[in-house]
Amino acid sequence: MAATRNRRRSIAILIVALGMVVALALYIELGGYNVAADAPHTAPVRTFLETLRRRSIAARAAGIALPGDLGSQQRIQAGAGLYGEMCATCHGGPGLEKTELAQGLYPQAPDLARGSALTPAQQFWIIKHGVKMTAMPAWGRTHPDPLIWDMVAFLQRLPWLSAEQYRALVASAPEDHDEMMHEASEAHHHKAGEAHH
Ligand code: HEC
Repeated sequence: MAATRNRRRSIAILIVALGMVVALALYIELGGYNVAADAPHTAPVRTFLETLRRRSIAARAAGIALPGDLGSQQRIQAGAGLYGEMCATCHGGPGLEKTELAQGLYPQAPDLARGSALTPAQQFWIIKHGVKMTAMPAWGRTHPDPLIWDMVAFLQRLPWLSAEQYRALVASAPEDHDEMMHEASEAHHHKAGEAHH
């Protein structure tokens, strides 16, 4: 008797679970979910995506070692120049007005001048690899690691800058972007060459 009742219960649970899967598939197939960037996610989807992002970045950044000279003024200045050129449009900066591009983003690009919950290693990972289904690009496709560390170095300083200091630091970049890219790739080739001998 008890065994039959248990079996009936298992079958009922299975049918309900299958029904839920079919309902979800239908909802997706019929275009029920709104992917528009001007309408926020529903709470369950937001929680799901935030957890996915947080765990994914934490796991992948865990083995990244920081360079010893992350606090060097040269790195910070180089990073400031790169930031002003490539990042401020989306992420803003002290004394800058929010661009039209930044206003239309979803998820919004965080205001990095307010600090970040991420560690420097996690910031390095996110700058290098970007984040799927957001506007954050993978800068590692075009930039070597040393320049990405320069930007991480600058991000540690950014929250403490006034508008005046921000402008001065961005203007103080030792070289322009092309020169930095050139030097970084020379150094890279040099190292690769040494490895062959
Ligand atoms: C086209 C817009 C855009 C540009 C340009 C851009 N980002 Fe982002 N960035 C984003 C968005 C959107 C996010 C949020 C991603 C998310 O929610 O997962 C983000 C996230 C980040 C984060 C994680 C912040 C945190 O604390 O969670 C860092 C660090 C970052 N960007 C650095 C940079 C740097 C450095 C540059 C320039 C090399 C840059 N970004 C250029 C859009 C952009």
